[in-house]
Amino acid sequence: MRVLSGIQPSGSLHLGNYFGMMKKMIEYQENEELFCFIANYHAQTSLSDGKALARGTMEAAANFLALGLDPEKSTFWVQSDLPEVQELSWILSNFTPMGLLERCHSYKDKVAQGIKPNHGLFAYPVLMAADILLFQSDIVPVGKDQKQHLEVARDIALKINNEYGEIFTIPEPDIDESVATVPGLDGRKMSKSYGNSIDLFLEEKALRKQVMRIVTDPTPVEEPKDPDKCNIFQIYRLFLDKEQEDALRRRYLAGGLSYGVVKQELFETIREFFAPFAKRREDLLSDQEKIRTILANGAEKARHSAAKIMRRIRKKTGLAY
Ligand code: ADP
Ligand code: TRP
Repeated sequence: MRVLSGIQPSGSLHLGNYFGMMKKMIEYQENEELFCFIANYHAQTSLSDGKALARGTMEAAANFLALGLDPEKSTFWVQSDLPEVQELSWILSNFTPMGLLERCHSYKDKVAQGIKPNHGLFAYPVLMAADILLFQSDIVPVGKDQKQHLEVARDIALKINNEYGEIFTIPEPDIDESVATVPGLDGRKMSKSYGNSIDLFLEEKALRKQVMRIVTDPTPVEEPKDPDKCNIFQIYRLFLDKEQEDALRRRYLAGGLSYGVVKQELFETIREFFAPFAKRREDLLSDQEKIRTILANGAEKARHSAAKIMRRIRKKTGLAY
């Protein structure tokens, strides 16, 4: 099976990104054919500062590599190193009904947040479809928020297959329901844009500050508490196995549990969990040439995989004459 996903290089990484998508991606490299890329074209829809985008791209690469992505076992590249994706995106545009894009929640949400409704933002799902279809991906692991974009990719692929015969593989989303939406400090979806995230690679003090900001209800210490309604529990459980989760649940239900104490435990758990990765990330970022070489090799591998489908689609559409 071919598994593909991308992540935007905008801003720092948070627990939602890690548990919602990256962790699973990295696990896939062991048994499947993994394609993983940094979606820097997509990031341009919300970032015009070139220096920030370039820096973000290097950091995103370091993040993935530090967290365990192995460029020998996978294909790992930067989206804009393969301009083929733009060509395919244009071809797909001609099979994309306006209504399909107009219905996309992510576009509507971003506009509601005050992001300028430009064409890039509107056409974003078509480019994402191109990312997926260019590599004949079978499976696309994403968080729940990207589900509709996967449906757009499938719709476009079906339309083209209908017109030209079986060209594209129809991709399946892979959404892990147990972590589909990692909640943020305030219980809404953890997201960079809501300012409610817990970031992966923070100094101890800053990490502690974020954890302490988790919103809790005013139930007094001595009273029993409902773990399923508690933001701390919902985040903490991501780090626990079934037995540990049940034990924590019992502490909630028994009463006498202080949210402050659980926050402190959670802070220590997060710090210990990510400390080895943070060290690797620092080492990688101090040798950026090495990262560039890895990405250049990855782009070459990706281009090789994309060549056949581009030849076919150019022929079918008449671009090859
Ligand atoms: P953000 O919402 O912070 O801007 P992105 O849109 O860049 O995050 O998401 C990158 C990846 O991480 C996507 O696959 C997305 O589905 C996943 N993801 C982001 N936030 C969460 C979350 N709170 N829970 C689960 N997955 C998430
Ligand atoms: N839109 C995705 C996000 O914001 C990133 C992305 C771009 C992607 N192209 C993709 C994810 C293709 C999966 C497949 O998270």
